Parts: sequence; structure tokens; C-alpha cells
Amino acid sequence: MTNHSAFATYPSLRDRVVIVTGGAAGIGEAIVEAGVRQNARVAFIDFQDSAAKQLMERLGASGAGRPFYYHCDLTDISALQKTVQEILNTFQTVDVLVNNAGNDARHSIAEVTPAYWDQCVAINLKHQFFMAQAVIPVMRKSRRGSIINMSSIAWAIPSTNAAVYVTAKAAIVGMSRTLAHEVGVDNIRVNCIMPGAILTERQQRLWFTEAYKSEILASQALKRMILPEEVARLVLFLAADDSSAITSQSYVIDGGWV
Ligand SMILES: NC(=O)c1ccc[n+]([C@@H]2O[C@H](COP(=O)([O-])OP(=O)(O)OC[C@H]3O[C@@H](n4cnc5c(N)ncnc54)[C@H](O)[C@@H]3O)[C@@H](O)[C@H]2O)c1
Repeated sequence: MTNHSAFATYPSLRDRVVIVTGGAAGIGEAIVEAGVRQNARVAFIDFQDSAAKQLMERLGASGAGRPFYYHCDLTDISALQKTVQEILNTFQTVDVLVNNAGNDARHSIAEVTPAYWDQCVAINLKHQFFMAQAVIPVMRKSRRGSIINMSSIAWAIPSTNAAVYVTAKAAIVGMSRTLAHEVGVDNIRVNCIMPGAILTERQQRLWFTEAYKSEILASQALKRMILPEEVARLVLFLAADDSSAITSQSYVIDGGWV
């Protein structure tokens, strides 16, 4: 159990409107929880309704606060745009966007069809751009904003069997840098996070065999698995005014692997 009171409080996040994509599970879930614990108003987008409901109930019961759930398949860009509009109708503004949703399904080079390529890019890259495009006008109006895009160390280490995912994750870094330069004039910051192997429920279920865990620990400087809440704490820092001069950067959080 995490002792939340042992970690930083960011006064600037109180009442800020934070959108988290893919917030129902994994790293996104930890970001949603971290956000409500800072008394931010957190809207999360996902398509796993039962996981989203469980998260809201868990956070409500723990007294942490209640996030707001929006169902949307982020690969459907017109649905994404409608969802952002709904969020804006409710909250009038957006201060922080965490582009977190993704899917690291494995694929060999031979398996990739043009349709698979498009789908993999749609879930790992395309929505990040269109989410940013949808919130930038309102951030420009309030002359502040922090956009945090989830990349991965996957493109910086010798990854295999995920060429399209890895391509998307590398593209996110370039996209973030150009967006940062386009919106910096309006005091909007854009940064990336590059997690290593993070101990989420899905990773444990699908990929983290004992052999792979041993490989991870041999590659890391820290000899323990890195937790979703540790990534969430980096997100909080980049979301808060404490990082007000930081933009166009990528932060590795991998226990010292890269
Ligand atoms: N876990 C890791 O080890 C790791 C490492 C590096 C990078 N990342 C990145 O961190 C982010 C979160 O990963 P995670 O491990 O927490 O994944 P996860 O699968 O545990 O959670 C992803 C969430 O996104 C949602 N989602 C997926 N596709 C969606 C869609 N089309 N529409 C709406 N919601 C959708 C899922 O329902 C889920 O709630 C991803 O961008 C991933 O690439 C994760």
C-alpha cells in the first residue's frame, strides 16, 4: 500500500482540469488517482467501462475524490473530438492533457499488413495529435497548459516484435518537440515520458514471465520492478507549475535501463 502522504503535494494542481486518456487501467489509472489526490478535476477517457467504474468506486470509497469518466474509442477521431467537446462543456477549460492510451500488442515484421499498421498507429500515435489539437485552442485562451505524451524506451533499447508500436513511440518524441515550439508562444508546454518496463496488471498478465523479469532486472540499475504510481509522480511534476520552464523534453523513467 502506498503511503500517499509521503509524497509531494502540488498546490498549483488544485482544481486544475486534467484529461487522462487510457485512464481506466495500468499507468493511466495511477495517473487518474494521483490527479484526484492533488484535488485536480480529472476527466479520463477509456473504453473499458467496467474497469472505469471500479476505479471510480475505489477512489470514491477511499476518500481520494472522484474522477469523471468518458467512454470513447480513441481510434475514432470524430468520437474523440465530440468527447473533448463534452468535457469542455462541463469544465469550460483544460489545463493538463496526459496522452497515455496505447497498446503494445506484439507483431513480427511478416505479420504486419497495411490495415494492422494503420490500427497500431491509430492507437499508439494518431489520437495523441488529435487530442492535443482539440485542447490547444482553450489552452491558448487561458495562456497556460501542459501536455504530456506517453512514449516509451522501446525505441531506445534493442526491441523486437513490435516494429509498428516502436515506430509510433519514437514518433511521439518528434511530434512533442514540434508541438512544443508551435504552442510555446502561448505558454503551453509539451513534454514526453519514456517509461521502461512498468509493473502493470496487463504487463504481468501478458509479458512478464520470470525469464523476462530477470532480463529486465539485469538491464536496470535498480534491481526491482518500477511501479505505475512512480510514473504518475513524474506526470504530476510535469503537469504542475513546478515544471513551468520545462518543455520540448523527454523524461526516461526506467530504473536506469537506457
Ligand atoms: N507498462 C509498460 O511497461 C509501459 C512501458 C513503456 C510505455 N508504456 C506506455 O504507457 C501507456 C500506458 O500503458 P499501460 O501499460 O498502462 O497500458 P494498459 O493496457 O495497462 O492501459 C492502457 C489503457 O488504455 C486504454 N485504451 C487502449 N486502447 C484504447 C482506445 N482505443 N480507446 C480508449 N482507450 C483505450 C485501455 O482500455 C487501458 O485502460 C501506453 O502509452 C504505453 O505504450 C507502458
